[in-house]
Amino acid sequence: MVVLICALSSLFEGFLECALSIGKRVNGFPLWVIEISDRPGEEEAEPAFKYIGNVHGDEPVGRELLLLLANWICDNYKKDPLAQLVVENVHLHILPTMNPDGFSLRRRGNANNVDLNRDFPDQFFSLNEDVDSRQPETRAIMNWVRDIHFTASASLHGGALVANYPWDGTEDKRRYYYPCPDDETFRFLARTYSQSHHNMSLSKEFEEGITNGASWYPIYGGMQDWNYIHGGCFELTLEISDDKWPRASELPTIWEYNRMSMLNLVASLVKTGVHGRIFSLDQGRPLPGLVLVKGVNHTVKASRVFADYHRLLAPGQKYEVTALAPGYKPKATSIWLSEEAVTADFILTPEEAISRGYQLRSICECGCKRNGRILLSNLFGDTNAGITFALLFVVVFLCFLLQRRVRSNLSKQRQSSSRRSVTVSV
Ligand SMILES: *[C@@H]1O[C@H](CO)[C@@H](O)[C@H](O)[C@H]1NC(C)=O
Ligand SMILES: *[C@@H]1O[C@H](CO)[C@@H](O)[C@H](O)[C@H]1NC(C)=O
Ligand SMILES: [Zn+2]
Repeated sequence: MVVLICALSSLFEGFLECALSIGKRVNGFPLWVIEISDRPGEEEAEPAFKYIGNVHGDEPVGRELLLLLANWICDNYKKDPLAQLVVENVHLHILPTMNPDGFSLRRRGNANNVDLNRDFPDQFFSLNEDVDSRQPETRAIMNWVRDIHFTASASLHGGALVANYPWDGTEDKRRYYYPCPDDETFRFLARTYSQSHHNMSLSKEFEEGITNGASWYPIYGGMQDWNYIHGGCFELTLEISDDKWPRASELPTIWEYNRMSMLNLVASLVKTGVHGRIFSLDQGRPLPGLVLVKGVNHTVKASRVFADYHRLLAPGQKYEVTALAPGYKPKATSIWLSEEAVTADFILTPEEAISRGYQLRSICECGCKRNGRILLSNLFGDTNAGITFALLFVVVFLCFLLQRRVRSNLSKQRQSSSRRSVTVSV
């Protein structure tokens, strides 16, 4: 259960920062999340990102950097373009510590001494099949991911300097490069972090400062793969400092090394990829369908309320993107994705309208424009003219509403972005 605890504004010139609890840790205290957005706690047709720190109790640098990140964005909103972009176009959720009990004990596991990054259901070898015995911290994250439609995320760890991406485990438990369907996109996201970092990309151990999880060391029950498989959320595991317990005086430097990486990773949700909404032609209403990319065996869901989708993809390529929803004819479009994001809205036609041999849109066009006057003059000679005229009036009015709705839905979506736009309709 998500409980909205507080929302404070005024301090930040009209933009809000919310703190809410996503669940409890072993000792019964809440796990606090900070949400940064111009409309926290509200649903918008925007991507959501989450940062999680201190998964391992003995890796505290992440929790410090996340608090610094939240403060920095608040302090620099309306001063720094990147801060403004994040606040206005992304819902950023920050859980500075996932394992406060482990932190108090200065150890890796939680109060039950369970490694939380081995406690998630695994695609190959679940170390923990028993749902009831799952740790409260793990359950809180799982419920949170079901509740909020996250596009991407990252968890922060310590003890190395590298950006790690799925898969984390292999099917035969041996160590080798084991790519997930979105390998190219993940490499792009991991590089976004490492290349913006002070010196992560200069690593001697990891080429470009990034690594496939399984080629480094396979793990099972990790949070990263679970997010991608079950939450549709592109998650990275970031190892942000070789030293797990640096002196407090070193934190400002480590923050400076990571600041641009942390911001650029969140901003990549807006600056790159294919985004848009899916609408139904018959009523112009948002249609929470699916988005597929040809050649990639991974489906992205549109959100329940606004049917907005955010398909992260490596830039510099052509993609064939298809939107589908049960009962509707799928629609595909080819998109050349350069460095900038592209907006592609889909308007899907109900299958039943197609099979009945008419499309509502053509009725609209007849009723509203082309045949309108002819129909009217014929009907007035009829005995039931009054009733027919009333019916015709209703049809014309409904058509008008439908067109206006679709148009306003589309323009609302576009206002928020300056992306290149494609609308894929009939
Ligand atoms: C990155 O910089 C830090 C601090 O200067 C240094 O300790 C570390 O060895 C460097 N790492 C790489 C991979 O260059
Ligand atoms: C796509 O992925 C699913 C698992 O998510 C798998 O069962 C299926 O075989 C894959 N299809 C192809 C064509 O690789
Ligand atoms: Zn760790």
